[in-house]
Amino acid sequence: MTIADRLLGALIGAAELCTVEIGRELGLYSALRDSPLTAAELAKTASIDERYAREWLEQQAAAGFLTSADGVSFALPAETASVLLDEGGPDFLGTAGEFAVGLGLLTPRVIEAFRTGEGVPYSEYGRHMRHGIASFNRPMFAHQLTSEWLPAVPEVDARLRAGGARVLDLGCGVGHSSVAIALAYPAVTVRGIDLDPASIEEARRTAAAAGVADRVSFTLGDAAVEGERGYDLVTIFEALHDMGDPVGVLRNCRRLLAEGGSVFIGDERVSDEFTAPAGEIERLQYAFSVLHCLPATRAENPVHAHGTILRAPTVMEWARAAGFDDPSVLDIPNDFWRFYRLR
Ligand SMILES: C[S@@+](CC[C@H](N)C(=O)[O-])C[C@H]1O[C@@H](n2cnc3c(N)ncnc32)[C@H](O)[C@@H]1O
Repeated sequence: MTIADRLLGALIGAAELCTVEIGRELGLYSALRDSPLTAAELAKTASIDERYAREWLEQQAAAGFLTSADGVSFALPAETASVLLDEGGPDFLGTAGEFAVGLGLLTPRVIEAFRTGEGVPYSEYGRHMRHGIASFNRPMFAHQLTSEWLPAVPEVDARLRAGGARVLDLGCGVGHSSVAIALAYPAVTVRGIDLDPASIEEARRTAAAAGVADRVSFTLGDAAVEGERGYDLVTIFEALHDMGDPVGVLRNCRRLLAEGGSVFIGDERVSDEFTAPAGEIERLQYAFSVLHCLPATRAENPVHAHGTILRAPTVMEWARAAGFDDPSVLDIPNDFWRFYRLR
């Protein structure tokens, strides 16, 4: 495929992702879930303008997201419905459009940051990125974290099953990992910490909605300076590469762990060394790095702004620099993340 063909394909994809975000934000896919609709019916059900409804329906069918035999009535196939609407379900990718819009909205700010060298605070990326990240990761937390990842380290799993274990979830975002751990291990208490005020507020709602607010709490703060000790497990999911002092955070983790406790990290599954051209997932991570992770970390007044591409040898180096004698890369399959245990 030529570069021109690739860019054209990417442009089609980017434009279609924006139309997916229109459908998500306005509840158009939800309206189509139960039965096929005409433009007039969709306009009425979703309280939108009919002419826009018709154009969107035709475009969605042309893109292959909806089906229509007559160009008048449009249906949402069951498989597409689960990908676009079942938030928390194993196949959910309904916020891919929200993610893309979030990146695009801040691109002019990032261009300016390239000129000035300044950062773009995580909070400025707003709800599109916050929700985009959270919803992308949520299916993994709901379906793999406590059934595959933590049980892959039997000692950690057993410790969480024993009464009274305490878990600290650093860079917890909107709290789906903290809540998943609390739901799977009924005897644990979990504390989530994040630098982003909007994420912490949303995390409290996540815990309340899941009925675990009595065992899951959230604190606004910096993982590098958190001071409460005695945790059996410290988790960091897709956040170590975002932290402005990653070695300082890991050093702090050592201080916060109870005797015999572990740090469990999930971060990007990228190759061990720079490779160009890179595989698809690494390409995605590199694009996030340029557009989001590097500018957001640079806004933290960092000791070290790493960017998204956190390679396994770097994690090992950071872990040893932080004083962990026995860091290991875990043999847990996952398309997006690699896992580490530090002790
Ligand atoms: C990519 S998000 C991941 C959020 C969540 N763990 C997840 O997997 O959905 C990275 C998170 O790290 C948080 N973060 C960045 N630097 C931090 C720091 N120094 N201390 C605590 N949280 C931090 C950000 O606010 C953001 O919520």
